[in-house]
Amino acid sequence: MHLHRLEKVWLLIGIGTLVMFLTIVGISAFAQGHHPPSDLTTLDPQKVDTTEPFNQPGLKKIGDNEYELVIVSQAFAFMPNDIKIPEGAKVHIIVTSKDVVHGLEIVGTNVNMMVTPGHVNSLTHTFHKPGSYLIICNEYCGTGHQMMSTKIEVTK
Ligand code: CUA
Repeated sequence: MHLHRLEKVWLLIGIGTLVMFLTIVGISAFAQGHHPPSDLTTLDPQKVDTTEPFNQPGLKKIGDNEYELVIVSQAFAFMPNDIKIPEGAKVHIIVTSKDVVHGLEIVGTNVNMMVTPGHVNSLTHTFHKPGSYLIICNEYCGTGHQMMSTKIEVTK
C-alpha cells in the first residue's frame, strides 16, 4: 500500500517534469523561429525519398529572389549536385541525411550545419557575392568523406 502511493507520487513528478520540459522546448523553438518552412523536424531516414520536401531535392522559388533549397545528404554525396542561384538570393536551406551524420559547410560563408539522420536542419543564408561556392561535408562519415562535396554557382 505504501509502495503503491510512492509510485504514484513519482509518476506524477515524472509527468510534471516531462510537461515542463516539453513546454520549455516548445517555447524556445517558437521564440527562435527555427521551424523549417515545411514544419518538419523529424522523419524516418529510411523514407527520405518519399517524404516531402526531400522527395524532390533542389531549388524552389518561394518569393522575390527568395528560395527554398532542399538538400539530401548520403554517403558520400549531396543532392542535388549542381545548384545555381542568382546574386542576392535569400536561400532557406533545408537538409537531412539518409544514413550517417554528415556536416554541411559552405566554404567562405558562416553556413555550417550538422546533418543527422532522422532530423531536419535548416538555416537561411543570403548570397550577396556572385561566384562559386563549395559545399563540403565537415563531419567524418566514412571512406568517401573527403570526396563528399557539391557546388553552388551564384550568378549575376
Ligand atoms: Cu559526409 Cu563526411
